[in-house]
Amino acid sequence: MTNVSKDALVQELVSIVGKEWVVTEREYMLSYLQDETPEPVRPKAANNLILVKPSSTGEVSKILRAANQARVPVFPVGGRTGLVSACVPTIPGIILSLERMKKLEVDRENLMVVAEAGVTLGDLLRACDEAGLFFPPHPGDEGAQVGGLIATNAGGVRAVKYGVMRNYVKGVEVVLASGKVLNLGGKLIKDNAGYSLLHLVIGSEGTLCVITKAIIKLHPKSEHSVTIIVPFSGRHEALQAVQKILLSGVVPLAIEYVEPDEVNLSAAHLNEKWPVQVGGAQLFIILNAESEEELLVSCEKVSGVCSEIGAGEPVLAETREEQDRVLRIRSNIYTALKPQLIDILDVTVPPSKLGDLMDAVEEIAEKYGVHLPVYGHAGDGNLHVHVMKEEGKAPDYVAKVKSEIYETGIRLGGVITGEHGVGAIRTQELTKATDEAELNLMQGIKKLFDPNNILNPGKVIT
Ligand code: LAC
Ligand code: ZN
Repeated sequence: MTNVSKDALVQELVSIVGKEWVVTEREYMLSYLQDETPEPVRPKAANNLILVKPSSTGEVSKILRAANQARVPVFPVGGRTGLVSACVPTIPGIILSLERMKKLEVDRENLMVVAEAGVTLGDLLRACDEAGLFFPPHPGDEGAQVGGLIATNAGGVRAVKYGVMRNYVKGVEVVLASGKVLNLGGKLIKDNAGYSLLHLVIGSEGTLCVITKAIIKLHPKSEHSVTIIVPFSGRHEALQAVQKILLSGVVPLAIEYVEPDEVNLSAAHLNEKWPVQVGGAQLFIILNAESEEELLVSCEKVSGVCSEIGAGEPVLAETREEQDRVLRIRSNIYTALKPQLIDILDVTVPPSKLGDLMDAVEEIAEKYGVHLPVYGHAGDGNLHVHVMKEEGKAPDYVAKVKSEIYETGIRLGGVITGEHGVGAIRTQELTKATDEAELNLMQGIKKLFDPNNILNPGKVIT
């Protein structure tokens, strides 16, 4: 802490939010000191932290004004479900949790929802469902909070048809480092009024301002959906099918690529069974439609395309429970692998280059004699490569393997991260992969928003 003693700052924070919402004892803030980043690459949280839980935008504004004047770092946190330690407080300062800000209002007439930053993804999905509406993306863990989903531009499995958070956020209320409250965008489908600060804020990982509220676009409920799991003899056939499906005129919500070992591990972890036990590679495809007939036509088209490539018999999950069950197994592969994991990458390339990326990953695995399990959002060109702990191997393989994977991704026209973001653990890679002129612009933007560098310092750009 700089311009002010910790005691004076604590007193000021207590006067803003009340005594019970300021925590200084470390044992009561342990779950706020990390996210879901694998332990071997996770930075340690600093000592000397204060956890504050405001209940309103007005309180957030006062906290930021005080912190800015005292030059005290502020680390905004959401559901702490991220994978790059974007919310980890790596130097002494204030952890700002918006979990008490949970107001949510569905606006059926405009097909939008206004949600405060602390609303969880689970609450958001339930509220939309109850209102007969549909929030199309499924950006991950349902404990994630709206503020974090926007700050990280979360992606997830349903992006093929519906995109990522950025495609749904129409407006935000934010608090600047100075304490000034600003509204960007609105309940608007079209908005060309100047540079889009809204889109600068989306994905800024807590480094530019604190998001306190958002306006999110919804769709009418889509009642008819089916999940198809298609086995292929190998990866090349599966990826060839991805291209053909995308060209067929059917637009699936999701086209995920999985391999049996990892998906079975996840099923076992959940005490479940994965329904397809054949095929060295599988596609997990979610389709929706306005009617049963339309769904059937899409389903037949997709099955036809796959069988032309020699796919095995597809397995259909039709009831909501069964579809939720297989999606849960897919979504828990990461959790199942985590104990043996060093890092999870999310290099993203043009969808047509995914096969090249996978081939390169296989070569890198062979070159270093390591196991690199892969699965991913095949329809988005977004691959998760897992660097695992390797018994008896000198740890220098980790940096080399990662660096070769990043280089391959960039060579193929991709980016080092398409989903999980930069956070605390990919800042060097971002610097390396980004044009100097672009980096300078990013640094200039950061300075303009946050001249004293109090907002999530050390994250994204350094
Ligand atoms: C997933 C997370 C790890 O795709 O991004 O399961
Ligand atoms: Zn993912």
